[in-house]
Amino acid sequence: MRIFSGIRPSGKLHLGNYLGAIKNWIELQNHPDLEQAVYAVVDYHGITTPFDPKIYHQQVMDTVLDYLAAGLDPKKVILMRQSHVSAHTELAWIFNTITSVSWLDRLPTYREQLEKNPKYNHVGLLDYPVLMASDILLYKSNLVPVGEDQLPHIDVTNEIAKKFNHLFGETFPAIKPHLEEGLRIMSLQDPAKKMSKTGDEGIALSDDPDTVRAKIKKAVTDSGKEIYYHPENKPAISNLIMIYHLLYGKSHGEDKDIYNGKSYAEFKNILAEVIIDFLKPFQQKRNELSKDMDKIEDLLRDHEEKASAIANKTLKEVKQKMGLI
Ligand code: AMP
Ligand code: TRP
Repeated sequence: MRIFSGIRPSGKLHLGNYLGAIKNWIELQNHPDLEQAVYAVVDYHGITTPFDPKIYHQQVMDTVLDYLAAGLDPKKVILMRQSHVSAHTELAWIFNTITSVSWLDRLPTYREQLEKNPKYNHVGLLDYPVLMASDILLYKSNLVPVGEDQLPHIDVTNEIAKKFNHLFGETFPAIKPHLEEGLRIMSLQDPAKKMSKTGDEGIALSDDPDTVRAKIKKAVTDSGKEIYYHPENKPAISNLIMIYHLLYGKSHGEDKDIYNGKSYAEFKNILAEVIIDFLKPFQQKRNELSKDMDKIEDLLRDHEEKASAIANKTLKEVKQKMGLI
């Protein structure tokens, strides 16, 4: 099992990122079949949509701190910043020469981003999945933990790998996505939307207790006073119940007493305290780590060297097969 995944450094991570992605990564780092796991802050992907250069470096380091504080173990996995391993963009260029524009310009993610920021119709936005294919294939990864929205990109990666293998000889393995079945944490303000980083929609892992209390208090609820789990009839409250169960742990399983017969306000108070308790050790660790950023920088350099060694080996093989060297 060789794993690659990444998150764009578009701000502090939220509970959706943790429960939908990082929790999975942490479980996988202890898997007995794990041969290699590389987790990147994909900073070159992050600049394909509007960003602020004044705070971008801070956002990259915030994401690294979040990875470490959440429990990614630098002894078991490789942590890296994408732009610090130049093989990623080099292989992406090579892949550009075998990727049809028609594989890219119909992708829903591209269309959505274009609709959001029509002026950002850059080649880089269209090319986003090719860089992602390069991220994954450079490490000959075969398992990619991602959210559902990324499946079309995984398909493109497999298409590129197949085409390369066909043209230049067997080089890349087929890759499989690793999905946390149906796990989607929804916005606290609109349960039809995914939890995101904006405003009161989501809980950042770094939110202090008062912010958590205020956001949960403001969270929308459904019509009818009873509390029960039913994502269709009660989408808002079901989202809150799901967060409660995921954070409070399976040992408390179907602990319905916690909400049966309670008012929305009472349940929200309980939930807010559960979230605050869950975040406390994370925030303590993050705070500790952030006191010595030189140490984090050293760790990243060391890991990026390891990543480069693997990536450059693949890049050399690719160049040899293509007659470039
Ligand atoms: P993003 O913040 O959109 O770059 O997503 C980074 C990772 O977190 C991806 O693997 C997403 O699938 C996952 N993720 C983001 N938002 C949510 C959410 N609301 N619920 C579950 N997973 C999420
Ligand atoms: N596109 C992914 C997202 O928005 C981030 C990403 C970039 C990624 N490269 C990757 C995910 C490689 C998995 C593997 O979530």
